[in-house]
Amino acid sequence: MEDLVKRAAKDLAESKYAIALTGAGMSTESGIPDFRGPKGIWTLNKGAEAKAYQRYELFLNNPRAYWEEMRGFQGTHGAFYEQIRQAEPNPGHYALAELEALGILKCVITQNIDGLHKKAGSKRVLEYHGSVHVLRCISCGSRFVREGVSLDELLPRCQCGAALKYDVVHFKEPIPSDVMEEAEKEASRCDLMLICGTSAVVYPFANLPRMARFPSGRLVTGMDVVGRKADVKRIEVNADPTPLTHEGISDYLIQGRTGEVLPRIVEEVKKLT
Ligand code: APR
Repeated sequence: MEDLVKRAAKDLAESKYAIALTGAGMSTESGIPDFRGPKGIWTLNKGAEAKAYQRYELFLNNPRAYWEEMRGFQGTHGAFYEQIRQAEPNPGHYALAELEALGILKCVITQNIDGLHKKAGSKRVLEYHGSVHVLRCISCGSRFVREGVSLDELLPRCQCGAALKYDVVHFKEPIPSDVMEEAEKEASRCDLMLICGTSAVVYPFANLPRMARFPSGRLVTGMDVVGRKADVKRIEVNADPTPLTHEGISDYLIQGRTGEVLPRIVEEVKKLT
């Protein structure tokens, strides 16, 4: 692993525009379970996963029932949200914040809804699947800090009159267009992607590591990227290999814990800069 840590540090030090793409594997060392790892929420509770697939439809058809479920925090959602509220960033989050402070990392695009990247000091964070700390109006797009909205009278409403939901993007819910566009812009302009703690199986996020800018500047996605080496370095830091590893999308996988590997990479980067 040490050779790959040194290789990643060199690639990062030589990059012009590095970004990080992160998933739940960033936060397991902060006490928040992931979804598909050995002790993942969906791994241990298929019923919870099936319920999660119905949640967006529930909101659209019966926002009151949605809020009863969300506010009552029934099932794993409750335990999950409590774990998030009490969680603190871990050395992996701080390492990415330090890479940004060093001027190397330009943006973190995260699937995580826990807000721990911002809590660790990362400034430019795109919360691709939203945030548990925010409510959002799907009618006009307004966002509100969760703590500032009373949930006493069920069905919190936006000024436009529509019912608010959690900003969290549920399965089958579209990614908010502002975040989607920003993320695609970052993915197409970067020359290095540090892909940390994600199984890379949930779309459209999993398209991002497959995006690549070619000399023509044309944005391509999908399998044809693999054939023609785009000028984007993709480095995975993950406990297990992922489809990105198996399909040869990533240049290399540093197999290990994000909370241990990322600080080691930053230590090596600081020796080079
Ligand atoms: N260090 C490195 N890798 C880790 C660690 C760790 N400490 N802990 C877990 N992992 C790895 C797991 O082995 C797994 O490959 O991180 C990955 C987490 O994958 P998932 O649980 O699928 O999480 P993620 O990729 O973020 O899921 C994407 O799925 O359910 C939806 O909306 C949810 O945003 C989530 C999306």
